[in-house]
Amino acid sequence: MNGFEINKIIAAVIFTVLIVFGIGKITDLIFYVEKPSEAAYKVEAVTVKTASAESSGSGSVDIKALLALGTVEHGEKVFKKCTACHVVAKGGKNKIGPVLYGVLGRKSGAISDYKYSKALIAHGKVWSYEEMNLYLLKPQAHIKGTKMAFAGLKKEKDRASVILYMNTKSDNPLPNP
Ligand code: HEC
Repeated sequence: MNGFEINKIIAAVIFTVLIVFGIGKITDLIFYVEKPSEAAYKVEAVTVKTASAESSGSGSVDIKALLALGTVEHGEKVFKKCTACHVVAKGGKNKIGPVLYGVLGRKSGAISDYKYSKALIAHGKVWSYEEMNLYLLKPQAHIKGTKMAFAGLKKEKDRASVILYMNTKSDNPLPNP
């Protein structure tokens, strides 16, 4: 191999590199497209009005529609999330949380031998369907300072069901809304 051939090889390599990179550059120049600053198919978030309490924040939830999503049977299953801290059976004892037999229609913080947080006592409302729905959605948000260490039930069906289930555990169930 003489020097001339090596030069040819080097030249070929440089040429190839130039072609490969060059084509990329050229196509860039020819097909330069300005990127839109916003996605072309931006989908507007549609605010669907559901029976969720989150949007309203007040008591203006369609509680009848919400409860229609639930069943007592499903509520019994959902209540398993509560049994670490609550008993719902008649004559049950307080655990970490107060006994929940007959809680619907009862004033909040009404179990005399249970030591509630100041926040819950100050809340002072009756456990209506609406109140219970808001509390179970996000306990800490609805009653700031409550000592119920539970994140909440996001699904409407779960809240509706557990409310219906608890309402069966009562001497005086709340009438259907
Ligand atoms: C980690 C334990 C824990 C779990 C899990 C829990 N709770 Fe509680 N709950 C508490 C405590 C503690 C309180 C007392 C709150 C206070 O005094 O601020 C309470 C209070 C309540 C009250 C108010 C009762 C009254 O007498 O005013 C209701 C209603 C309630 N819980 C329902 C539920 C339901 C339904 C679930 C399941 C979906 C649940 N809780 C899950 C600990 C828990």
